[in-house]
Amino acid sequence: MNLIIKNGIVVTDSETFKADIGISNGKIEIVGQDLNGADQIIDATGQYVMPGGLDVHVHLQLPFCGTVSADDFITGTKAAAAGGITTIVDFAIQSKGNTITDTVKSRKKEADGKVCVDYSLHGGITDWNDRTKSELKSLVMEGIVSFKMFMIYRSEGWMSSDSMLYQALEETKKVGGTIMVHAESVDVLDYLVEKYHNPADMKKYGAYCHVLSRPNFVEEEAIQRAIKWAEVTGGRLYIVHMSTGGGANLVTAAKKRGVEVFAETCPQYLLLEDDLFKQEDGHLYGTCPQIKKKEDIDRLWDALGDGEIDTIATDTCTFDTKQKAMWEGDFTKIPFGMPGSELMMPLMYTFGVREGKIDLNQFVHYQSTNPAKIFGMYPEKGSLQVGTDADILVFDPRKNVTIDYKNLETNCDWSPYQGWKLKGYPNTTILRGKIIARKGRFIGNIGYGKFIKRKPVVR
Ligand code: URP
Ligand code: ZN
Ligand code: ZN
Repeated sequence: MNLIIKNGIVVTDSETFKADIGISNGKIEIVGQDLNGADQIIDATGQYVMPGGLDVHVHLQLPFCGTVSADDFITGTKAAAAGGITTIVDFAIQSKGNTITDTVKSRKKEADGKVCVDYSLHGGITDWNDRTKSELKSLVMEGIVSFKMFMIYRSEGWMSSDSMLYQALEETKKVGGTIMVHAESVDVLDYLVEKYHNPADMKKYGAYCHVLSRPNFVEEEAIQRAIKWAEVTGGRLYIVHMSTGGGANLVTAAKKRGVEVFAETCPQYLLLEDDLFKQEDGHLYGTCPQIKKKEDIDRLWDALGDGEIDTIATDTCTFDTKQKAMWEGDFTKIPFGMPGSELMMPLMYTFGVREGKIDLNQFVHYQSTNPAKIFGMYPEKGSLQVGTDADILVFDPRKNVTIDYKNLETNCDWSPYQGWKLKGYPNTTILRGKIIARKGRFIGNIGYGKFIKRKPVVR
């Protein structure tokens, strides 16, 4: 064997047990006791050995909000590796007049040779027409099995109408695809943004106008509507970056009625409160949707504890302080997004597992196994099954770390979690049998990551 991980505590989404793992030719060869005979041994005494993480929602080098997100396919995937993630899924967002197929091709060109972890792409549907409709089948056959649609972003040209959403759910159902939706209610949102977009309110409230213009019902109404379209079409729907407790209630009720709906939430919606926008540097925390209140945080954690939510991902869209400064006091000009992948797993361990909100198996379920299942990558990704890719995270639950952006791989000069204290941190990240990160630093080869062709849903 090439590598044996010895004496660790193996954690999957359903089991926790002591075992060694033997790896050869990039695959898991054996999970057993007292394994010997390998070129390299990792002693994982006292550490958890789990499937590598998946971050199924990242935007690397994305042209957005008048700039380009600061983590590119190199720094963003180095950061992911350092944070225990072995697969990311980015987006190929169609621009008007172009096909998704061509967009995927050019996005792949940008990523290949740079990515440091394995990757795939969600298509982004912004231009619904007969050509778009007809390319869905071939895209799914090429492994692009999920498509994001935006219920907002009118001025970016990304917005989908209800009719587009309805039709895309109908069509993706036929080809085994999934529609992912950014759910916010555009007309009311636009009205509220306009309402606060005046010198007096912006002087009085500053970046907090971002909060005032996006009350919870903006997300909840859109989630409710998207669920309705999934219910009547029988399409498969995935709500991205769900930030409200009310959203969780709607998703849970829909699941009970048999609607095929999944929901993702993100560390920022589980850890950060919207009072941050009252700080002098509050604009740094601008994301879309924005972070919410303590009641939402509590409800989202409860929903994770109860299995009502399906995945945790980051919506990484890094903007540094210089880019964020482009807001110049106008909340509508804040570049929306924050760094994410590198700290997702350690944050979720310290504030989720250690605080008893989720257990260790749920930790693996939400950040590895279930995203792999929902997006057609399981069991090759998200499992420790014999014969699958040896994508493994050795996680040290004893490690104390104080977060400092200066020590991170992400290309960002601030962190939403600066100075926060963590207990538990990724020790070693292994991708297809190769060690790519150790003790929070990337030590692999740039470009070692490869495109993952995903499988459609079989009904
Ligand atoms: O603030 C965010 N989320 N930026 C990325 C774009 C999106 O809506 O996911
Ligand atoms: Zn979004
Ligand atoms: Zn996003």
